[in-house]
Amino acid sequence: MLSATSGTVRVAARPLTSPHPVLSLLRAICPTPSTQTGTPPLGKKNASNDTPSRIGLIGARGYTGQALINLLNEHPNMDIRHVSSRELEGQELKEYTKRKIVYENLSPEEVAQLDKDGKVDCWVMALPNGVCGPFVQALGQSSSLVVDLSADYRFDDTWGSYGLPELVQRSKIAQATRISNPGCYATGSQLALAPIVEHLGGMPTRYQVFGVSGYSGAGTKPSPKNDVNLLADNLMPYSLTGHIHEREISHHLGVPTAFIPHCASWFRGIHLTINIPLNKTMTSRDIRQIYQDRYAGEKLVKVVGEAPLVKSIQNKHGVEIGGFAVDSTGKRVVVCATIDNLNKGAATQCLQNMNLALGYDEYQGIPLD
Ligand SMILES: NC(=O)c1ccc[n+]([C@@H]2O[C@H](COP(=O)([O-])OP(=O)(O)OC[C@H]3O[C@@H](n4cnc5c(N)ncnc54)[C@H](OP(=O)(O)O)[C@@H]3O)[C@@H](O)[C@H]2O)c1
Repeated sequence: MLSATSGTVRVAARPLTSPHPVLSLLRAICPTPSTQTGTPPLGKKNASNDTPSRIGLIGARGYTGQALINLLNEHPNMDIRHVSSRELEGQELKEYTKRKIVYENLSPEEVAQLDKDGKVDCWVMALPNGVCGPFVQALGQSSSLVVDLSADYRFDDTWGSYGLPELVQRSKIAQATRISNPGCYATGSQLALAPIVEHLGGMPTRYQVFGVSGYSGAGTKPSPKNDVNLLADNLMPYSLTGHIHEREISHHLGVPTAFIPHCASWFRGIHLTINIPLNKTMTSRDIRQIYQDRYAGEKLVKVVGEAPLVKSIQNKHGVEIGGFAVDSTGKRVVVCATIDNLNKGAATQCLQNMNLALGYDEYQGIPLD
């Protein structure tokens, strides 16, 4: 049987540069960052597994679950075996064409039994925050890979790896059996901030991230944030302080960050506008070069000159970062980023992590354009 740990891949880490004094101080406030110091992509040459992996998806009816099903349907080495939804129990999973799959309503005990019987290599939890605990507990110390799309384990440094491949050590993801998939706003924000962290300006300074998401970010459960009538010709601010992604960005970058989210009337896609004070005078060209160097070779991060547009990132699988407008003092830059919340903000990143941890080419099954 294929084991989830069979895809172990080891790569050398990029050397760490010594942190800026302000950053050291900030790190005393925020916990040790898990991001900023990534390692180069693991390409085809690192793939160590050519056996298909059997996938169980819990929370398959939701937006992120459906986006992942579409990707897995095209993936040569991923084979969905179980999909769970209370609402769709008994219905056929029509979007999957590789084999006939019928939605089940699996309890944590049934998931544990399937796992014990060796029927699944990787479980993906696409459940709302606070729901997957009993499933994870039932799986116990199982060596199967578990990827959680919720925020439940993003702050638990003992839980395998945080799965942001461009910013954490990819070897850590590749060796993990428990992966916490980052949030959508948090992925875009961290990718747009990590290269500039060492140039952060004086205390007490925070980056300000102004974010606007399409309403699929609020999931399928009806709420004002996915009420299309309320959102028409409208922009809805919410969780103006203390959003869980504010905590996630601060925790993983090691820098206190102010995050100000909004919901808009389009379905998918996030725009982020980020105000960044600098600790020295810099030009727009300097900053763009830092980002280009940092993401050289990354297939899912594109550094562009102009501020990117959300319309252009919808249904795409990467992140675009641009703008780089420096003010007249040279000590403040505004950076913009766009990300499709259901793709790189959820399902695509989940697949990147699954590929790494199951031993396939990191980008296998991910449309690159
Ligand atoms: N939407 C995004 O842009 C996005 C991006 C990144 C991460 N995430 C995270 O990914 C997770 C899933 O998000 P989503 O947008 O796909 O949510 P969603 O559309 O609301 O779907 C939630 C899924 O969980 C199931 N579910 C809900 N409550 C449940 C319960 N108590 N027990 C068992 N199953 C339950 C639902 O199916 P049934 O009701 O049929 O069982 C459905 O399949 C969330 O934690 C979210 O924060 C979302």
